[in-house]
Amino acid sequence: MNDELKLIAGTANPELGRKIASYLGVDLCQVEIGRFSDGEIKVRIEDNIRGRDVFIIQPTFAPADNLLELLLLIDACCRASASRITAVIPYYGYARQDRKDQPRVPISAKLVANLITKAGANRVLALELHAAQIQGFFDIQLDNLFAAPVLLEYIQGKKLKNVTIVSPDVGGIKMGRAFAKRLGANLAIVDKRRTTADNSEVMNIIGEVAKSDIVILDDIISTAGTITQAAEVLRKAGARTIIAAATHPVFSGDALEKLEASPIEEVIVTNSIPFRDGKRCSKIVVLDVSPLLGEAIRRIHTGESISILFM
Ligand code: R5P
Repeated sequence: MNDELKLIAGTANPELGRKIASYLGVDLCQVEIGRFSDGEIKVRIEDNIRGRDVFIIQPTFAPADNLLELLLLIDACCRASASRITAVIPYYGYARQDRKDQPRVPISAKLVANLITKAGANRVLALELHAAQIQGFFDIQLDNLFAAPVLLEYIQGKKLKNVTIVSPDVGGIKMGRAFAKRLGANLAIVDKRRTTADNSEVMNIIGEVAKSDIVILDDIISTAGTITQAAEVLRKAGARTIIAAATHPVFSGDALEKLEASPIEEVIVTNSIPFRDGKRCSKIVVLDVSPLLGEAIRRIHTGESISILFM
């Protein structure tokens, strides 16, 4: 068996794939990903991967074709006799319905876990899953990395004074507390009540924010409703400067226009999802998670611990 590492990048975020390949000093596998005339996805792996340790890089943000392409690539690798297949999923889509909290709703995050497992993945490398319990939806090994080291390094470099980390909802308190500890900052929470799945209404601030330099921290910015409403309330409460940091720039609808018009001065995100709309919002700073993911891939391949990447 030749367990040489093989890296495959799907079409969802090829730039991230290239950066990870460059970090690892390997070439991306030759893969043909195209369409049948009716629009169905067609994939073919052109390199020999028999007996190889294969990592497939594909974030699964909308449209669902990204997920389907990942499933097809996993299936192709199985049938090409790869020795091990790791799905590297920098953004795990369909994560927001992760429990049956209303009648007649799916648990989408579990369904997607089933699909990835059934397709033949042996393990998953994820980044900042929306909810930690999604790890338990998989009966294969899963490593869930955090973007915190990348975001913190950048925020520390800004040399902010009197910093308060603000979680825009109670779900983000754990992440907020970890950041506050590392930055020697205070912690505050915005008590958000959601009206519908895509609309949020900010209520109260728990904690001191007046005259503080604020970092609003979230895992995802989708419509940007959560973060911009939090920023408005914080500004009214006397916050000095407001920046926002989130791992996944989903940026749906008019999110970028909302951010541009908001009191937020800078929006720090990662390249887990490609961002190509710089013209619509001048405040976006994109940090590169390829060294983090690349190092995790290297360590998984060689069987070294990855716990150092959580520090
Ligand atoms: C919610 O639980 C998440 O952590 C984010 O706050 C949410 O997904 C952000 O969504 P939006 O930008 O649409 O308000």
